[in-house]
Amino acid sequence: VHGGAWAIPDECAKACVDGVKVAAQEGFSVLTRGGSALDAVEAAVRNLEDNTVFNARGATLNADGEVELDAIIMDGRTLASGAVSSVKNIANPVSLARAVMEKTDHMILTSRGANLFAESVGVASIPTEALVSAYERTEWEKHKNYATGVKEDFNSAHDTVGAVTVDCAGNVACATSTGGIRNKMAGRVGDSPVICGGYADNCSGAVSCTGHGESILKVTLARLIISHVEQKTVAEASQLSLQYMAERVHGAGGAILVSPSGRWAATFSTDRMAWAAVDREGLWYGLDPNERH
Ligand code: GLY
Repeated sequence: VHGGAWAIPDECAKACVDGVKVAAQEGFSVLTRGGSALDAVEAAVRNLEDNTVFNARGATLNADGEVELDAIIMDGRTLASGAVSSVKNIANPVSLARAVMEKTDHMILTSRGANLFAESVGVASIPTEALVSAYERTEWEKHKNYATGVKEDFNSAHDTVGAVTVDCAGNVACATSTGGIRNKMAGRVGDSPVICGGYADNCSGAVSCTGHGESILKVTLARLIISHVEQKTVAEASQLSLQYMAERVHGAGGAILVSPSGRWAATFSTDRMAWAAVDREGLWYGLDPNERH
């Protein structure tokens, strides 16, 4: 799992690392109880969405001071995916994305339509204030400019949570959820609900991206990473793709990747990314570049 790639300040670092550790264990416990890869990524991302330290509850505010959420979930077995964009007042957009995948003929529902669909399937809405942390309200007041993708600028924008999993049947899945980038225009859609902010295919692996959405979209980051997996190690596939995004469009971000055989990597080009992973050897986590505990 990841809790977003950005310049996580020291005062938030412990809470971010603690949060991803708990979410990774939550996803893993779903697998140990016999749940599918899809169930596990949904559970892990719900856990991250419920934690105000990350950008879902605790979401970034748009230029109008409102919360608009994007999320995707994808099943590597069938390439089915579901997503919502610019949805308001929803506690767990990842579960709404799953409902889009399982209960409609569509892949993405947006804005009012996504909220109407939520109502029709019994997903309760919650007040906007329940989605906004005091920290974000203060940061939004301080920084009234949209953060461009370049590392120096984007580093200060709060960003995205995600999970990837492989289950014992070799099925992979991914999920990504975000409030987007601070001061985005109302109605702006980033990479997260599009299948390039996350991608899952049993033939190659599952990816969840974080970072500057416009840059991720330009290079279709998740697919770019997947395209390198056959020839490279999972770490090299992610590093090469993030390097390409930096060189080609000056964008910064991060990604987590798992292959169908269980090889995984957590990689980023921002100052920090909180991530955690559970494999046969136990729990791994990190925050700073080249750090793995
Ligand atoms: N990567 C999240 C966003 O740009 O919205």
